[in-house]
Amino acid sequence: MAEKIIVIDEGTTSTRTMLFAADGTPLGSAQREFRQHYPAPGLVEHDAAEIWTATLACTRAMIDKAGGADRVAAIGITNQRETVVFWDRATGEPLAPAIVWQDRRTAADCAALKAAGHEPMVQAKSGLLLDPYFSGSKMGWALKNWPQLRDAGDRLAVGTIESYLVYRLTGGVHVTDATNASRTLLMAIDGAHGWDEGLCDLLGVPGTLLPEITGCTTTVGTTVPDLFGRAIPICGMAGDQQAATIGQACLASGQTKATFGTGAFILSASGPARPHSANRLLATVLVQEGDARSYALEGSVFVAGSLIQWLRDGLGLLASAGESEGLARSAADNGGVYLVPALSGLGAPHWRPDALAALSGLSFASGKAHVARAALEAQAYQAHDLKSAFAADGVDWADLRIDGGMAANDWMAQDLADMLDLTVERPDFVESTALGAAMLAATGAGLYPHLADAAAAMRGRTTRFTPALDAQKREARLTGWRSALAKVLS
Ligand code: G3P
Repeated sequence: MAEKIIVIDEGTTSTRTMLFAADGTPLGSAQREFRQHYPAPGLVEHDAAEIWTATLACTRAMIDKAGGADRVAAIGITNQRETVVFWDRATGEPLAPAIVWQDRRTAADCAALKAAGHEPMVQAKSGLLLDPYFSGSKMGWALKNWPQLRDAGDRLAVGTIESYLVYRLTGGVHVTDATNASRTLLMAIDGAHGWDEGLCDLLGVPGTLLPEITGCTTTVGTTVPDLFGRAIPICGMAGDQQAATIGQACLASGQTKATFGTGAFILSASGPARPHSANRLLATVLVQEGDARSYALEGSVFVAGSLIQWLRDGLGLLASAGESEGLARSAADNGGVYLVPALSGLGAPHWRPDALAALSGLSFASGKAHVARAALEAQAYQAHDLKSAFAADGVDWADLRIDGGMAANDWMAQDLADMLDLTVERPDFVESTALGAAMLAATGAGLYPHLADAAAAMRGRTTRFTPALDAQKREARLTGWRSALAKVLS
Protein backbone atom coordinates (compact mmCIF):
# COMPACT_ATOMS: atom_id res chain seq x y z
CA MET A 1 0.00 0.00 0.00
CA ALA A 2 1.31 3.46 -0.89
CA GLU A 3 1.16 5.25 2.46
CA LYS A 4 4.57 6.86 2.96
CA ILE A 5 5.79 10.31 1.96
CA ILE A 6 9.23 11.21 0.62
CA VAL A 7 10.41 14.78 1.05
CA ILE A 8 13.24 16.30 -0.94
CA ASP A 9 14.70 19.10 1.19
CA GLU A 10 17.19 21.11 -0.89
CA GLY A 11 19.06 23.32 1.55
CA THR A 12 21.78 25.82 0.78
CA THR A 13 24.63 23.48 1.63
CA SER A 14 23.16 20.00 1.32
CA THR A 15 20.52 17.86 -0.31
CA ARG A 16 18.51 15.78 2.09
CA THR A 17 15.63 13.41 1.49
CA MET A 18 13.45 12.14 4.31
CA LEU A 19 10.89 9.43 4.60
CA PHE A 20 7.76 9.99 6.70
CA ALA A 21 4.84 7.87 7.80
CA ALA A 22 1.42 9.39 7.18
CA ASP A 23 1.21 10.45 10.86
CA GLY A 24 4.42 12.49 10.54
CA THR A 25 6.78 9.96 12.14
CA PRO A 26 10.23 10.34 10.52
CA LEU A 27 11.39 6.96 9.21
CA GLY A 28 14.77 7.74 7.70
CA SER A 29 16.92 10.25 5.87
CA ALA A 30 19.78 10.49 3.40
CA GLN A 31 21.97 13.54 2.99
CA ARG A 32 24.72 14.77 0.67
CA GLU A 33 26.60 18.03 0.94
CA PHE A 34 27.30 19.84 -2.33
CA ARG A 35 29.98 22.32 -3.27
CA GLN A 36 29.74 26.04 -2.62
CA HIS A 37 31.47 28.12 -5.28
CA TYR A 38 32.74 31.57 -4.29
CA PRO A 39 34.27 32.92 -7.54
CA ALA A 40 34.87 36.37 -5.97
CA PRO A 41 33.86 38.23 -2.78
CA GLY A 42 30.08 38.55 -2.70
CA LEU A 43 29.49 35.89 -5.39
CA VAL A 44 27.99 32.50 -4.44
CA GLU A 45 27.16 29.83 -7.02
CA HIS A 46 25.93 26.22 -7.08
CA ASP A 47 26.13 23.59 -9.78
CA ALA A 48 22.50 22.54 -10.42
CA ALA A 49 23.71 19.33 -12.11
CA GLU A 50 25.48 18.33 -8.89
CA ILE A 51 22.30 19.12 -6.93
CA TRP A 52 20.29 16.94 -9.31
CA THR A 53 22.69 14.02 -8.99
CA ALA A 54 22.62 14.27 -5.20
CA THR A 55 18.83 14.48 -5.24
CA LEU A 56 18.51 11.33 -7.33
CA ALA A 57 20.87 9.36 -5.08
CA CYS A 58 19.22 10.50 -1.83
CA THR A 59 15.68 9.94 -3.18
CA ARG A 60 16.60 6.43 -4.34
CA ALA A 61 17.94 5.69 -0.85
CA MET A 62 14.57 6.67 0.64
CA ILE A 63 12.63 4.64 -1.96
CA ASP A 64 14.66 1.62 -0.80
CA LYS A 65 14.04 2.52 2.84
CA ALA A 66 10.28 2.71 2.13
CA GLY A 67 10.38 -0.82 0.73
CA GLY A 68 10.02 0.25 -2.90
CA ALA A 69 8.23 2.91 -4.95
CA ASP A 70 4.88 1.13 -4.49
CA ARG A 71 4.94 2.12 -0.82
CA VAL A 72 5.34 5.84 -1.59
CA ALA A 73 2.11 7.85 -1.88
CA ALA A 74 3.71 11.15 -2.83
CA ILE A 75 6.83 13.25 -3.09
CA GLY A 76 7.06 16.70 -1.52
CA ILE A 77 9.75 19.24 -2.34
CA THR A 78 11.05 22.11 -0.25
CA ASN A 79 14.06 24.22 -1.07
CA GLN A 80 16.47 27.07 -0.50
CA ARG A 81 14.49 29.95 -1.94
CA GLU A 82 15.51 32.70 -4.42
CA THR A 83 18.44 30.73 -5.90
CA VAL A 84 18.04 30.72 -9.70
CA VAL A 85 18.80 27.99 -12.24
CA PHE A 86 19.12 28.41 -16.02
CA TRP A 87 18.65 25.25 -18.07
CA ASP A 88 18.11 23.79 -21.51
CA ARG A 89 14.52 22.65 -22.05
CA ALA A 90 15.69 19.96 -24.48
CA THR A 91 18.20 18.25 -22.21
CA GLY A 92 17.41 19.51 -18.71
CA GLU A 93 21.11 20.37 -18.33
CA PRO A 94 22.09 23.68 -16.66
CA LEU A 95 23.37 26.33 -19.07
CA ALA A 96 25.11 28.42 -16.41
CA PRO A 97 25.93 28.33 -12.70
CA ALA A 98 22.99 28.68 -10.33
CA ILE A 99 23.14 32.07 -8.61
CA VAL A 100 22.55 31.53 -4.89
CA TRP A 101 20.32 33.67 -2.66
CA GLN A 102 23.38 34.87 -0.71
CA ASP A 103 24.99 36.27 -3.89
CA ARG A 104 25.27 40.07 -3.95
CA ARG A 105 26.43 40.66 -7.54
CA THR A 106 23.37 42.80 -8.27
CA ALA A 107 23.81 45.16 -5.30
CA ALA A 108 24.63 48.10 -7.59
CA ASP A 109 21.70 47.32 -9.94
CA CYS A 110 19.31 47.21 -6.99
CA ALA A 111 20.75 50.43 -5.56
CA ALA A 112 20.25 52.14 -8.95
CA LEU A 113 16.61 51.01 -9.13
CA LYS A 114 16.10 52.23 -5.59
CA ALA A 115 17.71 55.60 -6.40
CA ALA A 116 15.38 55.88 -9.40
CA GLY A 117 12.45 55.66 -6.96
CA HIS A 118 11.11 52.19 -7.84
CA GLU A 119 11.14 50.62 -4.39
CA PRO A 120 7.71 51.79 -3.13
CA MET A 121 6.02 50.31 -6.23
CA VAL A 122 8.05 47.09 -5.98
CA GLN A 123 7.19 46.72 -2.29
CA ALA A 124 3.51 47.46 -2.84
CA LYS A 125 3.26 44.81 -5.55
CA SER A 126 5.67 42.06 -4.49
CA GLY A 127 5.84 42.58 -0.70
CA LEU A 128 9.66 42.57 -1.08
CA LEU A 129 12.40 45.20 -1.22
CA LEU A 130 15.00 46.04 -3.85
CA ASP A 131 17.79 43.83 -2.54
CA PRO A 132 20.13 41.44 -4.39
CA TYR A 133 18.78 38.62 -2.16
CA PHE A 134 15.72 38.07 -4.36
CA SER A 135 15.75 36.16 -7.65
CA GLY A 136 14.59 38.82 -10.11
CA SER A 137 17.70 40.99 -10.30
CA LYS A 138 19.87 37.84 -10.49
CA MET A 139 17.87 36.60 -13.48
CA GLY A 140 18.09 39.99 -15.19
CA TRP A 141 21.85 40.14 -14.57
CA ALA A 142 22.44 36.64 -15.99
CA LEU A 143 20.39 37.32 -19.12
CA LYS A 144 22.46 40.44 -19.74
CA ASN A 145 25.87 39.00 -18.91
CA TRP A 146 25.92 35.35 -19.95
CA PRO A 147 25.79 35.13 -23.76
CA GLN A 148 25.05 31.38 -23.75
CA LEU A 149 21.64 32.19 -22.25
CA ARG A 150 20.81 34.53 -25.12
CA ASP A 151 22.15 31.99 -27.60
CA ALA A 152 19.86 29.28 -26.19
CA GLY A 153 16.81 31.23 -27.47
CA ASP A 154 13.56 29.26 -26.94
CA ARG A 155 15.44 26.39 -25.33
CA LEU A 156 16.18 28.47 -22.23
CA ALA A 157 14.13 27.82 -19.10
CA VAL A 158 14.56 29.74 -15.85
CA GLY A 159 13.33 28.88 -12.38
CA THR A 160 14.16 28.45 -8.72
CA ILE A 161 15.53 25.18 -7.33
CA GLU A 162 12.19 23.35 -6.85
CA SER A 163 11.21 24.31 -10.39
CA TYR A 164 14.40 22.76 -11.76
CA LEU A 165 13.93 19.57 -9.75
CA VAL A 166 10.33 19.15 -10.90
CA TYR A 167 11.47 19.65 -14.49
CA ARG A 168 14.04 16.88 -14.13
CA LEU A 169 11.83 14.54 -12.07
CA THR A 170 8.86 14.79 -14.43
CA GLY A 171 10.80 15.02 -17.68
CA GLY A 172 9.65 18.52 -18.63
CA VAL A 173 6.92 20.05 -16.42
CA HIS A 174 7.90 23.71 -15.89
CA VAL A 175 6.16 24.95 -12.75
CA THR A 176 6.89 26.74 -9.50
CA ASP A 177 4.70 27.03 -6.42
CA ALA A 178 3.29 30.34 -5.19
CA THR A 179 5.60 30.55 -2.14
CA ASN A 180 8.75 30.26 -4.22
CA ALA A 181 7.29 32.57 -6.87
CA SER A 182 6.63 35.15 -4.16
CA ARG A 183 10.40 35.40 -3.55
CA THR A 184 11.38 36.36 -7.08
CA LEU A 185 10.33 40.06 -7.13
CA LEU A 186 8.39 39.18 -10.28
CA MET A 187 5.00 38.26 -8.83
CA ALA A 188 2.33 40.61 -7.48
CA ILE A 189 1.48 38.69 -4.33
CA ASP A 190 -2.11 39.79 -3.90
CA GLY A 191 -2.99 40.27 -7.54
CA ALA A 192 -3.75 37.88 -10.35
CA HIS A 193 -2.12 34.49 -9.95
CA GLY A 194 0.65 34.99 -12.52
CA TRP A 195 3.80 36.96 -13.18
CA ASP A 196 3.56 40.74 -13.13
CA GLU A 197 4.47 42.30 -16.46
CA GLY A 198 5.62 45.58 -14.94
CA LEU A 199 7.99 43.86 -12.51
CA CYS A 200 9.33 41.54 -15.23
CA ASP A 201 10.01 44.57 -17.48
CA LEU A 202 11.70 46.49 -14.67
CA LEU A 203 14.13 43.64 -14.00
CA GLY A 204 14.61 42.60 -17.63
CA VAL A 205 13.13 39.11 -17.31
CA PRO A 206 10.77 37.99 -20.09
CA GLY A 207 7.79 36.14 -18.58
CA THR A 208 8.05 33.51 -21.34
CA LEU A 209 11.17 32.07 -19.66
CA LEU A 210 9.40 31.55 -16.36
CA PRO A 211 7.43 28.58 -15.01
CA GLU A 212 3.70 28.40 -14.44
CA ILE A 213 2.75 29.28 -10.84
CA THR A 214 0.82 26.55 -8.99
CA GLY A 215 -0.62 25.87 -5.54
CA CYS A 216 1.41 24.13 -2.83
CA THR A 217 -0.74 20.99 -2.63
CA THR A 218 -1.43 20.70 -6.35
CA THR A 219 -0.31 17.53 -8.12
CA VAL A 220 2.13 19.10 -10.57
CA GLY A 221 3.09 15.86 -12.30
CA THR A 222 4.48 12.40 -11.73
CA THR A 223 8.05 11.21 -11.76
CA VAL A 224 9.44 9.66 -14.95
CA PRO A 225 8.78 5.93 -14.29
CA ASP A 226 12.37 4.93 -15.10
CA LEU A 227 13.78 7.06 -12.28
CA PHE A 228 12.31 5.14 -9.34
CA GLY A 229 10.55 2.17 -10.94
CA ARG A 230 7.09 3.76 -10.81
CA ALA A 231 5.50 7.14 -11.54
CA ILE A 232 5.10 8.86 -8.14
CA PRO A 233 2.97 12.01 -7.82
CA ILE A 234 4.67 15.24 -6.79
CA CYS A 235 2.00 17.06 -4.83
CA GLY A 236 3.55 19.17 -2.07
CA MET A 237 5.82 22.14 -2.71
CA ALA A 238 6.93 25.20 -0.77
CA GLY A 239 10.03 27.26 -0.10
CA ASP A 240 11.85 25.97 2.95
CA GLN A 241 10.90 28.80 5.30
CA GLN A 242 7.22 28.56 4.42
CA ALA A 243 7.44 24.77 4.81
CA ALA A 244 8.99 25.16 8.28
CA THR A 245 6.19 27.56 9.25
CA ILE A 246 3.67 24.91 8.18
CA GLY A 247 5.69 22.15 9.90
CA GLN A 248 5.47 24.16 13.13
CA ALA A 249 1.70 24.42 12.60
CA CYS A 250 1.93 28.24 12.49
CA LEU A 251 -1.14 28.72 10.33
CA ALA A 252 -3.29 31.01 12.48
CA SER A 253 -2.63 34.73 12.38
CA GLY A 254 0.17 35.76 14.77
CA GLN A 255 1.74 32.32 15.24
CA THR A 256 5.47 32.72 14.71
CA LYS A 257 8.45 30.47 14.04
CA ALA A 258 12.19 30.95 13.65
CA THR A 259 14.24 28.44 11.67
CA PHE A 260 17.97 28.33 12.33
CA GLY A 261 19.50 26.79 9.22
CA THR A 262 22.13 28.41 7.01
CA GLY A 263 20.38 31.66 7.83
CA ALA A 264 17.66 32.42 10.37
CA PHE A 265 14.23 33.20 9.04
CA ILE A 266 11.35 34.35 11.23
CA LEU A 267 7.83 34.14 9.79
CA SER A 268 4.60 35.13 11.44
CA ALA A 269 1.40 33.87 9.85
CA SER A 270 -0.91 36.71 8.73
CA GLY A 271 -3.97 34.84 7.44
CA PRO A 272 -5.76 35.53 4.14
CA ALA A 273 -4.94 39.27 3.95
CA ARG A 274 -1.42 40.19 2.92
CA PRO A 275 0.54 42.18 5.50
CA HIS A 276 2.12 45.58 4.78
CA SER A 277 5.35 46.41 6.56
CA ALA A 278 6.50 49.90 7.43
CA ASN A 279 9.59 48.48 9.15
CA ARG A 280 11.58 46.78 6.39
CA LEU A 281 10.02 43.34 6.85
CA LEU A 282 8.74 41.28 3.94
CA ALA A 283 5.25 40.23 2.94
CA THR A 284 5.32 36.76 1.47
CA VAL A 285 2.94 33.97 0.46
CA LEU A 286 2.80 31.41 3.27
CA VAL A 287 0.83 28.80 1.39
CA GLN A 288 -1.57 28.40 -1.52
CA GLU A 289 -4.13 25.60 -1.28
CA GLY A 290 -6.08 25.41 -4.52
CA ASP A 291 -6.52 29.09 -5.39
CA ALA A 292 -6.65 30.31 -1.78
CA ARG A 293 -3.54 32.10 -0.57
CA SER A 294 -2.53 32.92 2.95
CA TYR A 295 0.36 35.19 3.84
CA ALA A 296 3.15 35.77 6.33
CA LEU A 297 5.32 38.61 7.54
CA GLU A 298 9.00 37.66 7.36
CA GLY A 299 12.29 38.81 8.81
CA SER A 300 15.26 37.27 6.97
CA VAL A 301 18.63 37.00 8.71
CA PHE A 302 21.30 35.83 6.28
CA VAL A 303 23.81 34.20 8.63
CA ALA A 304 23.04 31.72 11.41
CA GLY A 305 24.32 28.12 11.13
CA SER A 306 26.73 29.28 8.41
CA LEU A 307 28.49 31.33 11.10
CA ILE A 308 29.21 28.23 13.16
CA GLN A 309 30.27 26.40 10.00
CA TRP A 310 32.65 29.26 9.21
CA LEU A 311 34.13 29.20 12.73
CA ARG A 312 34.70 25.48 12.15
CA ASP A 313 35.82 25.34 8.50
CA GLY A 314 37.00 28.89 7.79
CA LEU A 315 38.81 29.66 11.03
CA GLY A 316 39.37 26.16 12.42
CA LEU A 317 38.19 27.43 15.81
CA LEU A 318 35.81 24.53 16.42
CA ALA A 319 36.31 20.83 15.77
CA SER A 320 32.56 20.36 15.28
CA ALA A 321 29.49 22.59 15.21
CA GLY A 322 28.22 20.85 18.37
CA GLU A 323 31.31 22.00 20.27
CA SER A 324 29.95 25.57 20.27
CA GLU A 325 27.37 24.68 22.94
CA GLY A 326 29.93 23.41 25.48
CA LEU A 327 32.24 26.35 24.78
CA ALA A 328 29.43 28.89 25.24
CA ARG A 329 28.47 27.26 28.53
CA SER A 330 32.08 27.23 29.73
CA ALA A 331 32.31 31.05 29.67
CA ALA A 332 30.73 32.78 32.68
CA ASP A 333 29.64 35.64 30.43
CA ASN A 334 30.48 37.07 27.01
CA GLY A 335 33.47 39.01 28.38
CA GLY A 336 32.37 42.03 26.33
CA VAL A 337 32.91 40.16 23.03
CA TYR A 338 30.32 40.68 20.27
CA LEU A 339 30.17 39.18 16.79
CA VAL A 340 28.05 40.92 14.18
CA PRO A 341 27.74 38.18 11.55
CA ALA A 342 27.40 40.27 8.38
CA LEU A 343 29.33 37.70 6.31
CA SER A 344 26.89 38.12 3.41
CA GLY A 345 25.83 41.65 4.24
CA LEU A 346 22.87 42.23 6.53
CA GLY A 347 19.27 41.32 5.79
CA ALA A 348 16.19 42.41 7.77
CA PRO A 349 15.63 44.94 9.13
CA HIS A 350 18.80 46.69 7.87
CA TRP A 351 19.11 45.51 4.24
CA ARG A 352 22.75 46.47 3.87
CA PRO A 353 24.33 44.20 1.24
CA ASP A 354 27.59 46.13 1.68
CA ALA A 355 27.95 45.53 5.45
CA LEU A 356 30.91 43.46 6.65
CA ALA A 357 31.11 41.25 9.72
CA ALA A 358 32.94 42.40 12.86
CA LEU A 359 34.24 40.81 16.03
CA SER A 360 34.65 43.44 18.72
CA GLY A 361 35.53 43.83 22.40
CA LEU A 362 38.59 41.57 22.28
CA SER A 363 41.35 41.66 24.89
CA PHE A 364 44.03 39.18 26.05
CA ALA A 365 41.37 37.86 28.44
CA SER A 366 39.24 36.74 25.47
CA GLY A 367 39.39 33.10 24.46
CA LYS A 368 37.69 30.95 21.89
CA ALA A 369 34.86 30.26 24.35
CA HIS A 370 33.99 33.97 24.17
CA VAL A 371 34.02 33.93 20.38
CA ALA A 372 31.80 30.82 20.24
CA ARG A 373 29.48 32.37 22.80
CA ALA A 374 29.38 35.65 20.84
CA ALA A 375 28.40 33.68 17.72
CA LEU A 376 25.51 32.00 19.52
CA GLU A 377 24.48 35.18 21.31
CA ALA A 378 24.29 36.93 17.93
CA GLN A 379 21.34 34.69 17.04
CA ALA A 380 19.33 36.00 19.97
CA TYR A 381 20.30 39.61 19.27
CA GLN A 382 19.26 39.39 15.64
CA ALA A 383 15.99 37.74 16.68
CA HIS A 384 15.51 40.50 19.25
CA ASP A 385 15.93 43.21 16.57
CA LEU A 386 13.33 41.44 14.45
CA LYS A 387 10.96 41.14 17.40
CA SER A 388 11.05 44.95 17.68
CA ALA A 389 10.44 45.37 13.94
CA PHE A 390 7.50 42.92 14.00
CA ALA A 391 6.03 44.71 17.04
CA ALA A 392 6.36 48.06 15.26
CA ASP A 393 4.37 46.49 12.40
CA GLY A 394 1.68 45.51 14.92
CA VAL A 395 2.70 41.84 15.28
CA ASP A 396 3.59 41.08 18.89
CA TRP A 397 4.92 37.56 19.33
CA ALA A 398 3.14 35.65 22.10
CA ASP A 399 5.84 32.98 22.00
CA LEU A 400 8.35 31.71 19.45
CA ARG A 401 8.58 28.23 17.93
CA ILE A 402 12.11 27.38 16.88
CA ASP A 403 13.50 24.67 14.61
CA GLY A 404 16.36 23.84 12.24
CA GLY A 405 19.62 22.02 12.97
CA MET A 406 21.04 24.80 15.13
CA ALA A 407 17.92 24.90 17.32
CA ALA A 408 19.00 21.56 18.80
CA ASN A 409 21.52 23.62 20.81
CA ASP A 410 19.94 23.90 24.29
CA TRP A 411 22.16 26.80 25.32
CA MET A 412 21.04 28.85 22.31
CA ALA A 413 17.37 27.95 22.85
CA GLN A 414 17.56 29.18 26.46
CA ASP A 415 19.46 32.31 25.42
CA LEU A 416 16.71 33.10 22.90
CA ALA A 417 14.07 32.77 25.64
CA ASP A 418 16.17 34.99 27.92
CA MET A 419 16.90 37.72 25.41
CA LEU A 420 13.44 37.79 23.84
CA ASP A 421 11.78 37.49 27.26
CA LEU A 422 9.42 34.95 25.70
CA THR A 423 8.63 31.28 25.94
CA VAL A 424 10.50 29.42 23.22
CA GLU A 425 9.03 26.13 22.04
CA ARG A 426 11.09 23.53 20.19
CA PRO A 427 9.75 20.35 18.61
CA ASP A 428 11.67 17.18 19.51
CA PHE A 429 12.03 16.63 15.77
CA VAL A 430 13.72 19.88 14.69
CA GLU A 431 13.47 19.32 10.92
CA SER A 432 10.22 21.27 10.63
CA THR A 433 11.04 22.23 7.04
CA ALA A 434 10.89 18.63 5.85
CA LEU A 435 7.89 17.90 8.06
CA GLY A 436 6.00 20.87 6.58
CA ALA A 437 6.66 19.61 3.05
CA ALA A 438 5.43 16.18 4.18
CA MET A 439 2.23 17.82 5.46
CA LEU A 440 1.73 19.51 2.10
CA ALA A 441 2.36 16.29 0.17
CA ALA A 442 0.09 14.27 2.48
CA THR A 443 -2.67 16.82 1.89
CA GLY A 444 -2.00 16.85 -1.86
CA ALA A 445 -2.16 13.04 -1.92
CA GLY A 446 -5.54 13.11 -0.15
CA LEU A 447 -4.32 11.53 3.11
CA TYR A 448 -5.81 14.57 4.91
CA PRO A 449 -8.68 16.77 3.67
CA HIS A 450 -6.93 20.10 4.41
CA LEU A 451 -3.48 21.28 5.37
CA ALA A 452 -4.69 22.28 8.85
CA ASP A 453 -5.72 18.65 9.46
CA ALA A 454 -2.31 17.39 8.35
CA ALA A 455 -0.57 19.96 10.57
CA ALA A 456 -2.64 18.98 13.60
CA ALA A 457 -2.05 15.26 13.05
CA MET A 458 1.60 15.26 12.04
CA ARG A 459 3.35 17.72 14.40
CA GLY A 460 5.16 15.87 17.18
CA ARG A 461 6.03 16.62 20.80
CA THR A 462 7.73 19.84 21.92
CA THR A 463 9.99 21.16 24.71
CA ARG A 464 9.60 24.65 26.21
CA PHE A 465 12.27 27.09 27.36
CA THR A 466 11.12 29.89 29.66
CA PRO A 467 12.93 33.19 30.24
CA ALA A 468 15.16 33.27 33.32
CA LEU A 469 17.43 36.31 32.90
CA ASP A 470 16.91 39.47 34.91
CA ALA A 471 15.97 42.59 32.99
CA GLN A 472 19.11 44.55 33.89
CA LYS A 473 21.46 41.89 32.54
CA ARG A 474 19.37 41.62 29.38
CA GLU A 475 19.51 45.36 28.85
CA ALA A 476 23.28 45.48 29.46
CA ARG A 477 23.86 42.81 26.83
CA LEU A 478 21.55 44.54 24.35
CA THR A 479 23.44 47.80 24.86
CA GLY A 480 26.70 46.01 24.00
CA TRP A 481 25.14 44.49 20.88
CA ARG A 482 23.71 47.82 19.72
CA SER A 483 27.07 49.51 19.93
CA ALA A 484 28.79 46.63 18.04
CA LEU A 485 26.06 46.76 15.37
CA ALA A 486 26.28 50.55 15.06
CA LYS A 487 29.97 50.24 14.08
CA VAL A 488 29.09 47.77 11.31
CA LEU A 489 26.27 49.97 10.01
CA SER A 490 28.25 53.25 10.11
O1 G3P B 1 15.76 32.45 1.64
C1 G3P B 1 16.84 31.60 1.80
C2 G3P B 1 16.43 30.38 2.57
O2 G3P B 1 15.39 29.74 1.92
C3 G3P B 1 17.62 29.50 2.86
O3 G3P B 1 17.27 28.55 3.77
O4 G3P B 1 17.55 26.56 5.16
O5 G3P B 1 19.35 27.18 3.61
O6 G3P B 1 18.90 28.56 5.67
P1 G3P B 1 18.37 27.68 4.58
